[in-house]
Amino acid sequence: MHRKTSKALALGVAATVAIGTGFAQSQIQQSQTQLQSTQSDSGTQSRTRPRAPRIRPPAIPNLPRAGIAFGDPLQGLTADELADFTEGLEEFQSQDTAESGLGPIFNNVSCVICHASPAVGGVSANFVTRFGHSANRGFDPMTAAGGSLLQDKAIDPAALESIPRDANVTTRRITTPLFGAGLIEAIPDSTIMDNANARKPDGVSGKVSMVQDAATGQMRVGRFGWKAQQASLLTFAGDAYLNEMGITNRVFPTENAPNGNMTLLAKYDLVDDPEDQTDPASGKADIDHFADFMRLLAPPSLLALSDDAKAGAALFVTTGCQACHQAAMATGANPVAALDRKVVMLFSDLLLHDMGSLGDGIVQGSAGAREMRTSPLWGLRGRNAFLHDGRAVTVDAAIRMHDGEAAPARDRYVNRLSPALQRQLQAFLDSI
Ligand code: HEC
Ligand code: HEC
Repeated sequence: MHRKTSKALALGVAATVAIGTGFAQSQIQQSQTQLQSTQSDSGTQSRTRPRAPRIRPPAIPNLPRAGIAFGDPLQGLTADELADFTEGLEEFQSQDTAESGLGPIFNNVSCVICHASPAVGGVSANFVTRFGHSANRGFDPMTAAGGSLLQDKAIDPAALESIPRDANVTTRRITTPLFGAGLIEAIPDSTIMDNANARKPDGVSGKVSMVQDAATGQMRVGRFGWKAQQASLLTFAGDAYLNEMGITNRVFPTENAPNGNMTLLAKYDLVDDPEDQTDPASGKADIDHFADFMRLLAPPSLLALSDDAKAGAALFVTTGCQACHQAAMATGANPVAALDRKVVMLFSDLLLHDMGSLGDGIVQGSAGAREMRTSPLWGLRGRNAFLHDGRAVTVDAAIRMHDGEAAPARDRYVNRLSPALQRQLQAFLDSI
């Protein structure tokens, strides 16, 4: 067992404090999407026009809550940081329309529609689809045909994308939660690299995902997304704004053509690019506000451990889960005091692992077809679908579906733990 991580786990568990009555469930209703279709005023097809404003969300009631709940800001923010969080929260919930740049092809109209539960920043039943073509020569993400991410909606039915007939790999990806994302971002690259070099049991290895961060051009350690495909929240925000909503921005200024069709793109891309403009007064664009919100969002809180959960914490270690789901890492020096040299109890090494049959077949960033990022396990209690495509509806099922490097740990869970002990391990996972 890797001594450093065992100690960190013990430390975190010992530091657990009761947070009272549990946490308030979110009052966020997922508003029904009302798509406003474009006016097809003929004659303006090749000209684009300035962006119309986004639709602002209704004011959020500031309900008093016990303890730290999903959706709260980090504790200890300055007044300015809190204002950034609130502004970011509002932008995160704003809806785009064709007039404000939505599409031509997109997956949904706001960030919150997919990141909604149990509070803004969380998850939803919405998933996205990826496709590609796998051959002996390797994997082709079919970029020229609009891959590997499908956009399954369009501002005009004529622009709708479909999965090309010669794609032989398709997979769903469910939404990942954003609670604590700023802490994950603030972990130094070198800490994650050290995880890859550390000796692990069961023949587990683990690969660092090196990616070029589009916002800065630097080579960085990827840590966000099922494939650890992005290193920073700003870049992920730009990526999501373009690829989920069809809003071009300074990090990703080029619109997606429906299945690669440039004629269709020219016909339906009606707003000047980049659609997300920097506001001269604040010096920020929407993507900066999204990044502010995500960066300052509190992590899931560690609940008081019941006796079962305490026993489960020990089983988590002895079963070998911690070889990948490393309990804690620390952030580096950070200008935001609430992110500065903090312990992050995320239960992940943020490395890519060969998961055998559980891999999703997509080659993305530096991740191979069978490689997936170790999922952070904090906040599992706020979700009801697990693994990259949501194939598991219980944590127990998710563990049983582990494969590849995780097969020895899975086998120990399945064969050596009685149902009672398995429930103790689950009680622990429900508390972190
Ligand atoms: C159509 C649904 C959808 C919309 C809209 C959407 N997301 Fe996501 N989001 C996802 C899915 C699915 C993933 C997992 C993607 C993957 O790894 O392939 C994800 C992952 C993320 C992550 C990575 C978190 C992590 O730790 O893995 C960030 C950051 C993120 N989204 C931010 C945003 C922002 C900001 C917006 C709005 C601009 C947005 N998303 C809009 C579905 C959506
Ligand atoms: C070899 C590394 C490795 C080991 C060992 C391992 N896991 Fe995982 N775990 C992963 C990866 C990678 C994923 C994401 C897989 C996917 O979605 O395709 C994951 C996902 C999960 C999930 C689903 C999380 C989510 O976000 O949907 C749970 C729950 C989980 N692991 C629990 C465990 C438990 C409990 C053990 C010990 C019995 C364990 N894991 C051992 C690598 C590992």
